[in-house]
Amino acid sequence: MKLIYLAAPFAVSVLSLSRDRGEWMAPQRDAVRGPCPMLNTLANYGYLPRNGKGISRDVAIEVLDTVINWDVSVAGPLYDFAQPTNPTPNATTIDLDQLTTHNVLEYDGSLSRQDAFFGPADFTTPNINVEQAARARTARIVTAASTNPSFTLPQIGAYFDYRETAAYQFVFGTWNLEADNIKDKISTPLEAVEYFFKYERLPLEKGWVRPINRLTYDVLVNFVLESQVLTHGQMNGTVPY
Ligand code: HEM
Ligand code: MG
Repeated sequence: MKLIYLAAPFAVSVLSLSRDRGEWMAPQRDAVRGPCPMLNTLANYGYLPRNGKGISRDVAIEVLDTVINWDVSVAGPLYDFAQPTNPTPNATTIDLDQLTTHNVLEYDGSLSRQDAFFGPADFTTPNINVEQAARARTARIVTAASTNPSFTLPQIGAYFDYRETAAYQFVFGTWNLEADNIKDKISTPLEAVEYFFKYERLPLEKGWVRPINRLTYDVLVNFVLESQVLTHGQMNGTVPY
């Protein structure tokens, strides 16, 4: 048994993460989770620390690269944005529950939190196109704004918003970035997205595999700006990083 462990390539981890890395386990009693379904999911597999605490920049970057093919140009700035949510001065790690710090990164009108699962009524076909995803996003904000008297959506929230919608499409969808119409650039199986949000598990049993395409900053920004046209009729200025 020992020999098998030694021989197994996954046993050697530069990150010194546990041997059961890659195995889904529900969070244990000492674990914390936060508002990001993907970071929660990665902790559930032990790619990020299972207790959800002490996540360093290097680990976040390595894991997003390895598991979902996200380039450091996306993962790095995203992590840097989150770092200030750790209240300890000069901290170099984050805990997942710290990400809920209201209006730093976490904001009202989330896709799947609080009340309902994000507007399934918006999705009427087995595959979501970019336009449906953008409209579901907008519908969710309108609902939150009209039902929550203290609703605020700071500028930063508005940007992250479309990024999050973009994020799940990039991870779970099939890309066709050469398509003429933004609407057709990614097609995302609804089943996979629902499964992910509901269970905080990668939809491997629905046939999901690590995206072949690498998500770089340029790809993300162009996609987010173009997506805005679908709901606002125009691009919404620049992006925060
Ligand atoms: C939500 C942080 C990576 C997908 C959030 C929120 C935070 C956050 C603070 C809460 C915003 C809110 O709704 O109020 C981060 C950080 C990341 C990261 C710091 C990396 C270092 C990712 C990745 C994905 C992702 C790789 C890929 C799918 C989402 C989605 C939501 C979200 C879909 C919206 C959840 C909802 O509205 O219910 N993230 N995230 N995130 N994140 Fe992440
Ligand atoms: Mg929120």
